[in-house]
Amino acid sequence: MTATARPSAEPVDLFSPEVVADPFGWYARLREEPLPHTGTLNIGTMMGGPDMWLATRYEDVLTVLTDPRFLTNPPADSPLADIRDGVFKAMNFPEDLIPWMANKLNTADGEDHTRLRKLVSYALTARRVNALRPRVEKITEDLLDKMAEQGKDGSPVDIVEEFCFPLPVTVICELVGIDEADRAAWHAWGNAMATMDGPSIPPALRTCIALSRELMARRRVEPKDDLVTALVQAQAEDPARVSDDEIVGILFSLVTAGHQTTTYLIGNSVLFLLEHPDQLARLKAEPALWAQAVRELQRLGPLQFTQARFPSEDVELGGVTIPRGTPVAPLLLAANTDPRKFAEPDKLIVDRLSVANEMHLSFGKGIHRCLGQHLAYQEAEVALHGLFTRFPDLALAVPREEIPWILRPAFTRTKTLPLKLA
Ligand code: HEM
Repeated sequence: MTATARPSAEPVDLFSPEVVADPFGWYARLREEPLPHTGTLNIGTMMGGPDMWLATRYEDVLTVLTDPRFLTNPPADSPLADIRDGVFKAMNFPEDLIPWMANKLNTADGEDHTRLRKLVSYALTARRVNALRPRVEKITEDLLDKMAEQGKDGSPVDIVEEFCFPLPVTVICELVGIDEADRAAWHAWGNAMATMDGPSIPPALRTCIALSRELMARRRVEPKDDLVTALVQAQAEDPARVSDDEIVGILFSLVTAGHQTTTYLIGNSVLFLLEHPDQLARLKAEPALWAQAVRELQRLGPLQFTQARFPSEDVELGGVTIPRGTPVAPLLLAANTDPRKFAEPDKLIVDRLSVANEMHLSFGKGIHRCLGQHLAYQEAEVALHGLFTRFPDLALAVPREEIPWILRPAFTRTKTLPLKLA
């Protein structure tokens, strides 16, 4: 017997300062609260959007991500069809740009999703990513050299700006095929999105749409060994495979997804490891553990939740029935710290997870599972191993409480991380 879901008396606003400041505490509370009926789900709100259910327990989040009845778009006749538009309207976003903000691959369902995913996935297979490793190592070494120079007189170096950001941006730009001259504009776009700086998003978006179109035109005439060339060639062979706008959408998905998340994975991980000297000592003694360590560091952040899903029919979840079309947000971080799944979940244990079966849900699961996982792990592993090997006495240059955090929901990340290198 299941009960029909209905809103709890006090919806939780995921964008409220209290939740943003303490996601671990809030998610633990939500996960364990005796809620209406069976107590596994809460109603939350996001940025003036409609109420949505929050899946917090591991098994529930897994179901939302993998059960084919949960789609990334609401049913066409649903009053909630404008859930994303509502968010953009709340930000006063120009109407004509709203469709460009929807990440086409991420938000596509069914055959459209399969078609687009196939076009992108070939560029990001484990084999292709392994072949990139020497290049990732070289970019890392160059950045470490530059930092060593900056910090040689004992001055603090902000590793978010000098290391965590440029490494993934350079790698993804090379992989996708963004030319050197255009990268500053993509950086501006990345920064605007990272800080959700309303006024600077539209101009940055317009510039990058125009640059994407010019890039496609250049690659049609002068092909290179990059993803843009592969996409325009696939289109030339069969125009039904991908449209121009879809290619632009793919570039945005990759450039955005390819650096934001990885930047903050690396930055947060440095801080985590400095705060867990016993675990860092284990890694220094046994470098083979780095591959496992990045999986554990990924379990604990920086991504808190992913886009809502919409059941295509009434679905039972955690003992309640979620009515068709009602949005459910999968809270990845809450699932990753669920004690039902992970013993002592808030503790960093570098060899907790195996490389073959990492268990956490930080890359999602099911058909939308992250396509950049191999790349993200490789970058994090090379970056963290390289950093702590080159600078074994790395330490915070400011007291812990003075580290500025970007307080935006969905991500937990340090804005800057000033370190003394020796
Ligand atoms: C720490 C790093 C990263 C994290 C935490 C992360 C997280 C995620 C998550 C949770 C999803 C699933 C979204 C959903 O189900 O709603 C996803 C999808 C995706 N990610 Fe990542 N990601 C990371 C790095 C990357 C990188 C480096 C790339 C590209 C090179 C990338 C490209 C994508 C793409 C294209 C999708 C959409 C897949 C689909 O819808 O079929 N990600 N990512």
